[in-house]
Amino acid sequence: MSTEGVDDSRRRFLLATSTVVGGAGVVALAWPFLDSLSPSAKALAEGAPVSVDISKVEKGQQITVFWRKQPVWVLSRTSSMLASLNQVTPRLADPKSEQPQQPDYCKNEYRAIKPEYLVMIGICTHLGCSPKLKAQAPDPAVDPHWLGGYLCPCHGSKYDLSGRVFTGQPAPLNMVVPPNRYANDTLVVIGEDPHENKSKA
Ligand code: FES
Repeated sequence: MSTEGVDDSRRRFLLATSTVVGGAGVVALAWPFLDSLSPSAKALAEGAPVSVDISKVEKGQQITVFWRKQPVWVLSRTSSMLASLNQVTPRLADPKSEQPQQPDYCKNEYRAIKPEYLVMIGICTHLGCSPKLKAQAPDPAVDPHWLGGYLCPCHGSKYDLSGRVFTGQPAPLNMVVPPNRYANDTLVVIGEDPHENKSKA
């Protein structure tokens, strides 16, 4: 655990992680037992889309679910978090998400379908560590101009609250946004594009 554990965002994160509901929670709990599944069931668990109920995710809170063995974050962004995204643009390596690190429908400053919810794979694009949410702003311990974002504990790469990497970091790219769609206002399906399998959710 990093020092992130002592701040409010981390406490909220831990609470959310322990209370994830729906299919995603089932997948996470079932993970240690994958080896005992039949080949077809195992393939489904490893690669199937994951439905996440976000109705209880509070503003400023982040939850983690697993899809294809990768941590996927769902961050509920506050209005001040959203406002910070414009302010950091001059300091970003790829502010317009020109690199193919997200589906086309998330190629915007929010890197999301709904601005208030960031859905993103929580893996640093340098060497694969998992960055920590540093939502507090300002936070001189991270950066003199910090407005909130993610800090990688391995080599210090910094990202904004859309997962866009700052210039001059070891990480070369923005973090990856996976395919995702909304089955309804509070159910996000990770691993499917908006036009896919609407009847399944
Ligand atoms: S793995 Fe994140 S900065 Fe190196």
